[in-house]
Amino acid sequence: MKRIGVLVSGGGTNLQAILDACESGLIKSGKVVTVVSNKKDVYALERAKNANVEGIVIEKKAFDSIEAFDEALCAHMKSREVDLIVMAGFLCIVGDKLISEFENRIINIHPSLIPSFCGAGFYGLRVHEAALNYGVKVSGATVHYVNGVVDGGKIIKQKAVYIKDDDTPETLQKRIMEEAEWKILPEAIEEICASM
Ligand code: GRF
Repeated sequence: MKRIGVLVSGGGTNLQAILDACESGLIKSGKVVTVVSNKKDVYALERAKNANVEGIVIEKKAFDSIEAFDEALCAHMKSREVDLIVMAGFLCIVGDKLISEFENRIINIHPSLIPSFCGAGFYGLRVHEAALNYGVKVSGATVHYVNGVVDGGKIIKQKAVYIKDDDTPETLQKRIMEEAEWKILPEAIEEICASM
Protein backbone atom coordinates (compact mmCIF):
# COMPACT_ATOMS: atom_id res chain seq x y z
CA MET A 1 0.00 0.00 0.00
CA LYS A 2 1.41 3.35 -1.02
CA ARG A 3 1.00 6.19 1.44
CA ILE A 4 -0.98 9.19 0.19
CA GLY A 5 -0.89 12.73 1.59
CA VAL A 6 -3.67 15.06 0.45
CA LEU A 7 -3.41 18.87 0.38
CA VAL A 8 -6.69 20.80 0.64
CA SER A 9 -7.98 24.34 1.13
CA GLY A 10 -11.75 24.10 1.18
CA GLY A 11 -14.81 21.91 0.98
CA GLY A 12 -12.91 18.81 0.05
CA THR A 13 -15.30 17.08 -2.34
CA ASN A 14 -12.32 15.73 -4.26
CA LEU A 15 -10.85 14.49 -0.98
CA GLN A 16 -14.19 12.79 -0.32
CA ALA A 17 -14.05 11.11 -3.74
CA ILE A 18 -10.58 9.78 -2.84
CA LEU A 19 -11.69 8.56 0.60
CA ASP A 20 -14.77 6.90 -0.92
CA ALA A 21 -12.62 5.23 -3.56
CA CYS A 22 -10.34 3.85 -0.82
CA GLU A 23 -13.41 2.55 0.99
CA SER A 24 -14.97 0.98 -2.10
CA GLY A 25 -11.73 -0.62 -3.28
CA LEU A 26 -11.41 1.47 -6.45
CA ILE A 27 -8.20 2.69 -4.88
CA LYS A 28 -6.61 -0.52 -3.64
CA SER A 29 -2.91 0.22 -4.02
CA GLY A 30 -2.79 3.20 -1.68
CA LYS A 31 -4.32 4.73 1.43
CA VAL A 32 -4.66 8.30 2.69
CA VAL A 33 -2.41 8.74 5.72
CA THR A 34 -2.60 12.50 6.18
CA VAL A 35 -4.68 15.47 5.06
CA VAL A 36 -3.13 18.93 5.29
CA SER A 37 -5.12 22.13 4.97
CA ASN A 38 -3.58 25.59 4.65
CA LYS A 39 -6.78 27.00 6.19
CA LYS A 40 -8.45 26.40 9.54
CA ASP A 41 -12.02 25.24 9.89
CA VAL A 42 -12.49 23.96 6.36
CA TYR A 43 -14.97 21.17 5.77
CA ALA A 44 -12.26 19.01 4.20
CA LEU A 45 -10.80 18.51 7.71
CA GLU A 46 -14.19 17.28 8.90
CA ARG A 47 -14.21 14.77 6.06
CA ALA A 48 -10.77 13.51 7.11
CA LYS A 49 -11.94 13.14 10.71
CA ASN A 50 -15.05 11.22 9.63
CA ALA A 51 -12.81 8.80 7.76
CA ASN A 52 -10.46 8.43 10.75
CA VAL A 53 -7.63 10.05 8.84
CA GLU A 54 -5.25 12.58 10.39
CA GLY A 55 -6.17 16.13 9.42
CA ILE A 56 -3.84 19.01 10.24
CA VAL A 57 -3.51 22.71 9.48
CA ILE A 58 -0.30 24.24 8.19
CA GLU A 59 -0.92 27.93 7.58
CA LYS A 60 1.29 30.07 5.40
CA LYS A 61 0.99 32.99 7.79
CA ALA A 62 2.61 30.98 10.58
CA PHE A 63 5.90 31.21 8.68
CA ASP A 64 8.26 34.07 7.85
CA SER A 65 8.67 33.10 4.24
CA ILE A 66 7.14 31.00 1.52
CA GLU A 67 10.28 28.84 1.67
CA ALA A 68 9.71 28.10 5.35
CA PHE A 69 6.07 27.16 4.65
CA ASP A 70 7.21 24.89 1.84
CA GLU A 71 9.83 23.35 4.12
CA ALA A 72 7.15 22.63 6.74
CA LEU A 73 4.87 20.93 4.21
CA CYS A 74 7.80 18.88 3.00
CA ALA A 75 8.92 17.89 6.51
CA HIS A 76 5.36 16.85 7.40
CA MET A 77 4.94 14.67 4.31
CA LYS A 78 8.31 13.05 4.97
CA SER A 79 7.49 12.43 8.61
CA ARG A 80 4.38 10.51 7.48
CA GLU A 81 6.46 8.60 4.90
CA VAL A 82 4.19 9.78 2.11
CA ASP A 83 4.77 8.26 -1.34
CA LEU A 84 2.29 10.37 -3.32
CA ILE A 85 1.05 13.91 -2.64
CA VAL A 86 -2.35 14.81 -4.07
CA MET A 87 -3.36 18.45 -4.38
CA ALA A 88 -7.15 18.25 -4.19
CA GLY A 89 -8.37 21.82 -4.31
CA PHE A 90 -5.20 23.19 -2.70
CA LEU A 91 -5.12 26.89 -3.41
CA CYS A 92 -1.44 27.50 -2.71
CA ILE A 93 1.37 27.20 -5.18
CA VAL A 94 3.82 24.66 -3.81
CA GLY A 95 7.50 25.57 -3.60
CA ASP A 96 10.71 24.24 -5.07
CA LYS A 97 11.72 22.16 -2.08
CA LEU A 98 8.53 20.09 -2.06
CA ILE A 99 8.61 19.75 -5.84
CA SER A 100 12.20 18.56 -5.92
CA GLU A 101 11.92 16.25 -2.91
CA PHE A 102 8.76 14.69 -4.33
CA GLU A 103 9.63 14.83 -8.00
CA ASN A 104 6.99 13.06 -10.11
CA ARG A 105 5.16 12.23 -6.90
CA ILE A 106 2.86 15.28 -6.66
CA ILE A 107 -0.33 15.47 -8.68
CA ASN A 108 -3.04 18.13 -9.00
CA ILE A 109 -6.59 18.27 -10.30
CA HIS A 110 -7.53 21.27 -12.42
CA PRO A 111 -11.12 21.95 -13.54
CA SER A 112 -10.51 22.57 -17.26
CA LEU A 113 -8.91 20.83 -20.19
CA ILE A 114 -5.31 22.03 -19.88
CA PRO A 115 -3.84 24.01 -21.71
CA SER A 116 -7.11 25.98 -21.77
CA PHE A 117 -8.10 28.16 -18.83
CA CYS A 118 -5.19 27.31 -16.58
CA GLY A 119 -2.14 28.89 -15.00
CA ALA A 120 -1.84 31.71 -12.48
CA GLY A 121 -5.17 33.22 -11.47
CA PHE A 122 -7.28 30.39 -12.89
CA TYR A 123 -8.85 28.78 -9.87
CA GLY A 124 -12.34 28.15 -8.54
CA LEU A 125 -15.23 29.75 -10.42
CA ARG A 126 -12.84 31.92 -12.45
CA VAL A 127 -11.92 28.92 -14.56
CA HIS A 128 -15.54 28.28 -15.49
CA GLU A 129 -16.32 31.98 -16.04
CA ALA A 130 -13.41 32.13 -18.47
CA ALA A 131 -14.59 29.04 -20.35
CA LEU A 132 -18.15 30.40 -20.66
CA ASN A 133 -16.91 33.87 -21.67
CA TYR A 134 -14.75 32.36 -24.36
CA GLY A 135 -17.68 30.34 -25.61
CA VAL A 136 -16.05 26.92 -25.75
CA LYS A 137 -18.51 24.05 -26.18
CA VAL A 138 -16.45 21.53 -24.23
CA SER A 139 -14.56 21.86 -20.98
CA GLY A 140 -13.61 19.25 -18.41
CA ALA A 141 -10.92 18.35 -15.92
CA THR A 142 -7.24 17.42 -15.96
CA VAL A 143 -5.07 15.48 -13.54
CA HIS A 144 -1.41 16.37 -14.01
CA TYR A 145 1.95 16.11 -12.34
CA VAL A 146 3.11 19.22 -10.50
CA ASN A 147 6.33 20.90 -11.56
CA GLY A 148 7.59 24.47 -11.24
CA VAL A 149 5.12 25.81 -13.83
CA VAL A 150 1.55 26.45 -12.57
CA ASP A 151 -0.68 23.78 -14.18
CA GLY A 152 2.28 22.99 -16.44
CA GLY A 153 3.33 19.45 -15.51
CA LYS A 154 2.79 16.32 -17.58
CA ILE A 155 -0.86 15.42 -18.12
CA ILE A 156 -1.99 12.13 -16.57
CA LYS A 157 -5.72 12.04 -17.32
CA GLN A 158 -8.39 14.27 -18.84
CA LYS A 159 -12.14 14.01 -19.16
CA ALA A 160 -14.34 16.23 -21.28
CA VAL A 161 -17.68 17.67 -20.22
CA TYR A 162 -20.06 19.29 -22.70
CA ILE A 163 -21.20 22.83 -22.00
CA LYS A 164 -24.94 23.53 -22.07
CA ASP A 165 -26.46 26.73 -23.45
CA ASP A 166 -27.88 27.70 -20.09
CA ASP A 167 -24.78 26.88 -18.01
CA THR A 168 -23.63 29.35 -15.37
CA PRO A 169 -20.15 29.14 -13.81
CA GLU A 170 -21.80 27.42 -10.86
CA THR A 171 -23.69 24.76 -12.86
CA LEU A 172 -20.64 24.08 -15.00
CA GLN A 173 -18.39 23.78 -11.95
CA LYS A 174 -20.79 21.29 -10.38
CA ARG A 175 -21.09 19.15 -13.52
CA ILE A 176 -17.34 19.10 -14.12
CA MET A 177 -16.83 17.92 -10.55
CA GLU A 178 -19.50 15.22 -10.75
CA GLU A 179 -18.75 13.97 -14.25
CA ALA A 180 -15.00 14.43 -14.41
CA GLU A 181 -13.02 15.43 -11.30
CA TRP A 182 -14.45 12.92 -8.86
CA LYS A 183 -13.86 10.13 -11.40
CA ILE A 184 -10.45 10.82 -12.90
CA LEU A 185 -8.69 11.82 -9.68
CA PRO A 186 -9.27 8.48 -7.87
CA GLU A 187 -8.54 6.59 -11.12
CA ALA A 188 -5.25 8.42 -11.57
CA ILE A 189 -4.29 7.81 -7.94
CA GLU A 190 -4.88 4.07 -8.27
CA GLU A 191 -2.92 3.87 -11.50
CA ILE A 192 0.03 5.78 -10.05
CA CYS A 193 0.09 3.88 -6.75
CA ALA A 194 -0.17 0.56 -8.59
CA SER A 195 2.81 1.44 -10.77
CA MET A 196 5.05 2.82 -8.00
C1 GRF B 1 -11.97 21.74 -7.63
O1 GRF B 1 -12.70 22.33 -8.67
C2 GRF B 1 -10.58 21.46 -8.09
O2 GRF B 1 -10.50 21.08 -9.42
C3 GRF B 1 -9.91 22.76 -7.89
O3 GRF B 1 -10.47 23.27 -6.69
C4 GRF B 1 -11.76 22.72 -6.48
C5 GRF B 1 -11.76 22.07 -5.14
O4 GRF B 1 -12.99 21.59 -4.72
N1 GRF B 1 -8.48 22.64 -7.94
P1 GRF B 1 -13.09 20.62 -3.46
O5 GRF B 1 -12.44 21.31 -2.28
O6 GRF B 1 -12.41 19.33 -3.80
O7 GRF B 1 -14.56 20.43 -3.23
